Amino acid sequence: MERFVDSVLAGLTLDEKLGQLTQYRGRYGLTGPQTPEAGEADIRAGRVGSFLGVHGAQLTREMQQVAVEESRARIPLLFAHDVIHGFRTIFPVPLAEAASWDPALVEGAARVAAAEAAAHGLHWTFAPMVDVGRDPRWGRVVEGAGEDAYLGSIMAAARVRGFQGADLRDTLTLLATAKHFVAYGAALGGRDYDVADVPERVLWEVYLPPFHAALDAGARSVMAAFNEVDGIPMHAHESLIDGVLRDRWGWDGILVSDYTGVMELMPHGVAADAAEAGRLAILAGVDVDMVSNIYHADLPAEVRAGRVPEAVVDTAVRRVLRAKYELGLFDDPYRYSSEARERALTLAPEFVAAAREMARKSIVLLKNDGPVLPLAKDLGTIAVIGPLADDRRSMLGSWAADGRSEDAVTVLEGIRQAVPGTRVLHARGAPVDTADTTGFAEAVRIAREADAVVMVVGEDQDMSAEARNRASIDLPGAQLELVKAVRATGKPMAVVLANGRPLAVQWLADSVPAIVEAWYLGVQMGPAVADVLFGDANPGGRLPVTFPRTVGQVPLYHDHKRTGRPPREEERYTSKYLDVPWTPLFPFGHGLSYTTFEYSEPRPSATEIAPTDSFTVAVDVTNTGQRAGDEVVQLYLRDDVGSVTRPVRMLRGFERVTLLPGERRTVTFALGPEDLAFHDRRMRWVVEPGAFTLWVGGSSAGGREATFRVTGDTTVVRHRGIVP
Ligand code: NOJ
Repeated sequence: MERFVDSVLAGLTLDEKLGQLTQYRGRYGLTGPQTPEAGEADIRAGRVGSFLGVHGAQLTREMQQVAVEESRARIPLLFAHDVIHGFRTIFPVPLAEAASWDPALVEGAARVAAAEAAAHGLHWTFAPMVDVGRDPRWGRVVEGAGEDAYLGSIMAAARVRGFQGADLRDTLTLLATAKHFVAYGAALGGRDYDVADVPERVLWEVYLPPFHAALDAGARSVMAAFNEVDGIPMHAHESLIDGVLRDRWGWDGILVSDYTGVMELMPHGVAADAAEAGRLAILAGVDVDMVSNIYHADLPAEVRAGRVPEAVVDTAVRRVLRAKYELGLFDDPYRYSSEARERALTLAPEFVAAAREMARKSIVLLKNDGPVLPLAKDLGTIAVIGPLADDRRSMLGSWAADGRSEDAVTVLEGIRQAVPGTRVLHARGAPVDTADTTGFAEAVRIAREADAVVMVVGEDQDMSAEARNRASIDLPGAQLELVKAVRATGKPMAVVLANGRPLAVQWLADSVPAIVEAWYLGVQMGPAVADVLFGDANPGGRLPVTFPRTVGQVPLYHDHKRTGRPPREEERYTSKYLDVPWTPLFPFGHGLSYTTFEYSEPRPSATEIAPTDSFTVAVDVTNTGQRAGDEVVQLYLRDDVGSVTRPVRMLRGFERVTLLPGERRTVTFALGPEDLAFHDRRMRWVVEPGAFTLWVGGSSAGGREATFRVTGDTTVVRHRGIVP
């Protein structure tokens, strides 16, 4: 490959090299009028190496043909797209998939997305987003795996494996992109694109690990983040891009800018003009310029003036050419553009079935007093109320690639299909986000007629996404008032939440007997929700994010640091609020089931271990209820005394198990030095001697406890590259 890549590179002019580093959006050219012909002229002239958002077997073949037959250099194009949670067969949003705590299933979902997308001519996806999201105001919490770096790392690796498969030449796989490098989720105030104000230790322990996990799993591409870290915008952050990713971690994939990220070095205020922006970006290690068109337009002069060494350009071009080689495009540029595969795989029945399974497994039962759920299938009348019950587009979630509303089955339809003998009434009751209450009367009227009420409320899909930040995380509009009005009928009632971020729903938690967190579950949302409502599926998902009681508690995440004055009810001068409890509404890891589970004492394999030892913790889990069900067995650790402060708890193991009524299973967690290590005062990654506490249970709150000690001397751990 290297010899081949060098020979291609040797034949390129400087302009053609910079063309390889240039990405356009759609089929339109950026250098001239915005027409498909302009795009083609640019391909012919070698001014562009990849496209964002172009797909379809026929279209990609036509454009590829211009590249390999009509351009001088004859280099095939790369076609990229945001295939985030499905291409046409839309799966649950990533936050929902993370709530399954089932990495194998999540890997399978990514594999389906890749197969369907690759069949439409695509080579490259801008996913997974591996940003840790600790602030529910941030609109992109929906697109990640939640607040925890450990869970996030496992999900990141699973999704990379799913997208890329074992061999990039496989025409059912895509090149994966870990994004957004780095600390993009730490935007101040939850305002997308704002500054990430993160101390170095937090960067290394919270925001970098999911990237390392993604690269360890083989991710061939990383996207730079829009934010700055410590005064340096990420598109110019040489010490993190070249320094950490390449020099320290030895990664050699493509670093792609985010959309106009190179140009944005000007409004960030570190570049006076486009040429300086391009120079800073390429010298920091940004290989591909997504739509700023600065590399192509402004870097030739920079190179000729000696301000950018041509060798730097060559290094970036090599990375792009290698990817094209690894995808097999130099052998056959059309190998991904197959109409037959496109027809056969679009919405293939097995893909749709996989989407339903993923959707079921992503649902979290937050509350179930009574129990109200599951509902009987022979009820005479059910009222399905709420603005999201029959909102086809919202079922899909925001990043729906080529998803179509008409492919989605709504919750209302899912319920109708599940109970054909039941009269199902429906009223929207209120819009999602206005004060309009004129629909209340009808909603209350049908509730009165019904034996049970299902309300579907939350955010519409366009409220949780890029740039969709909210300063309030309450139920928007008049929806809470609508729930109150319907609740006053006294009918048995379950609320289904459709949303892409934690919502502050204290009143619901206090006053509604059953709450189902359903997120946006994709094309099969309706059937999956109905499966859970009527007991054909037993919910087993768990929250990958903390639900606060009010936005005023934010940031509120489970693995926060200890303080000198931890909150105590009876002591005023401790860390808490006057007006609300310090505790969350629903903790990280929380989720109920239609059955119950009991835990034995956890059994560490040793109570004294050396810093470099591996050891295990075993626990017996028993299904003590009447139904088969899933429990997510979670293991948390605390380093009781460290040379720097440590979190109150850290997730260090989990396993989702299915148990029949009465069945008991021993779950064994393997732990090692990397689970105990942290960055000490000198930023060495060490295991220190002393006492540890561990908890095993069904959420981050409570659990059965055990202790062990690390003996010996402080030991530097060299592993996984997570060492600054
Ligand atoms: C901007 C987003 O931040 C990024 O995640 C996405 O891949 C690009 N737009 C391209 O759509």
